Amino acid sequence: MRSPFDLMREWVDQECKLGSQSPNRAILSTIANENEKMQPHSRVVALREFDDRGFLFFTSKKTRKYTELVSNPQASMVIWLELQQRQVVIEGNIQLLNNEENHSYWQALPKHNQLKFTAYGPHTNNEITSTSQLDVVYQELSKQYQDQENLPLSEYYKGSRLIPNRLMFYTLESESFSEFVEYIPGENEEGWQSRLLGPC
Ligand SMILES: Cc1cc2nc3c(=O)[nH]c(=O)nc-3n(C[C@H](O)[C@H](O)[C@H](O)COP(=O)(O)O)c2cc1C
Repeated sequence: MRSPFDLMREWVDQECKLGSQSPNRAILSTIANENEKMQPHSRVVALREFDDRGFLFFTSKKTRKYTELVSNPQASMVIWLELQQRQVVIEGNIQLLNNEENHSYWQALPKHNQLKFTAYGPHTNNEITSTSQLDVVYQELSKQYQDQENLPLSEYYKGSRLIPNRLMFYTLESESFSEFVEYIPGENEEGWQSRLLGPC
């Protein structure tokens, strides 16, 4: 049977063929463990990659998402493919990357992104007077590291992989019934099993 990751790859490739510039945007929802009100919180993240290990994104350790994921690794993600009117809803658990993995993804970033991240990393979620304050830091860092290919790994740069335990693929049809397919791990956690659900 086709794995949900193969299906996801097909859908993302199709979205690119139709002209999407950003088929890698996902809405990530988290919920803190110690939050008495159990307030869910959602925001956009850019998926760096996905494969059968899960869905990888990066953030700053000063974000609410990081704090919440450390306290409660259960999360949900929606990938909305507008040009096909399709969504993939993913539920699962977060695995934080270790330092070595963060370092290797950091080194693969263009230098401009390393500079930007290093400039804003310590200021994430703090009140600032203007983004020109960060431009100044960016220019200082550019000068400081002008002779180096890479900047040192920012202590704020943190990767997380959402490892799914349920995925739902929904295609909205205007003329016929919408298609709604659920994937869950197969017996003994081997492979995946899918079933067609009634649409809504
Ligand atoms: C198009 C787009 C892509 C974004 N990508 C990321 C991302 O990859 N990682 C991230 O931490 N924040 C990203 N953000 C910002 C988050 O949506 C969020 O506002 C910010 O990280 C604060 O998150 P928090 O609510 O967890 O503190 C992105 C925002 C937009 C609009």
